[in-house]
Amino acid sequence: MFWQRLVQPPVIAPSLYASDFTRLGEQIETLLTAGARVFHFDMGDGHFIEPVTIGPIVIESIAPLVHAGGGVIDCHLMVEEPERHIRQVADAGGDSVTVHLEACADLPGTVALARELGLGAGLAVNPGTPVERALEAAGAVDLVLCMSIHPGYSGQAFMPEALDRLAALREGLPPEVLVEVDGGVKATNAREIGAAGADVLVVGSGIFAAAQPAAAYEGLAASLAVASAAAAVR
Ligand code: DX5
Ligand code: ZN
Repeated sequence: MFWQRLVQPPVIAPSLYASDFTRLGEQIETLLTAGARVFHFDMGDGHFIEPVTIGPIVIESIAPLVHAGGGVIDCHLMVEEPERHIRQVADAGGDSVTVHLEACADLPGTVALARELGLGAGLAVNPGTPVERALEAAGAVDLVLCMSIHPGYSGQAFMPEALDRLAALREGLPPEVLVEVDGGVKATNAREIGAAGADVLVVGSGIFAAAQPAAAYEGLAASLAVASAAAAVR
């Protein structure tokens, strides 16, 4: 997928679901200035997850701003029948779609549709789904998203068992397939999560609940950079 070439993993992807929606544009601009390039966008339908969240009309509003700043919109579809929403995401300006294994009846068809529309394609798995199933299904995807919370809400605690799941995914997937983690990532655990094998670390409340989201982003990004430099030396 094209946006893999824009970023040097590991990267922090702010989750806009946790932003202050009265100041969404301003917060995106501040984060772009701080260096963020991957903006995670959570769509929820009130069925696959309890809440209805944000959708294509919000993507359409923010896409010009994100793209002008060199960023991309990484859309996490926590919806049943995700294939029904992919065209709308593409038309609105999304850059990649990640669908849940638990919600997608035809993964190869959905990935093919995403590609036809010029989108990156990802596969997400809930904490209760064996990682082996993700590895078997991953096929032609660009990224595999390992949930480290039960999907639905920002602000939940990281489930420690995700560390082993991340390591198993990183080991079992080809290097060009990104491993993404979502839920409960904070400044206190980001290094450990990066070291376990995550390439893209989604952070919602860990950025937006901070007094200064840009400073929180910078702190997270710096701690990861230090950790990955140390790993390279070893
Ligand atoms: C919730 C979403 C997450 C959420 C993460 O299911 O998929 O992206 O915004 O928020 P934090 O980082 O606060 O757990
Ligand atoms: Zn998400």
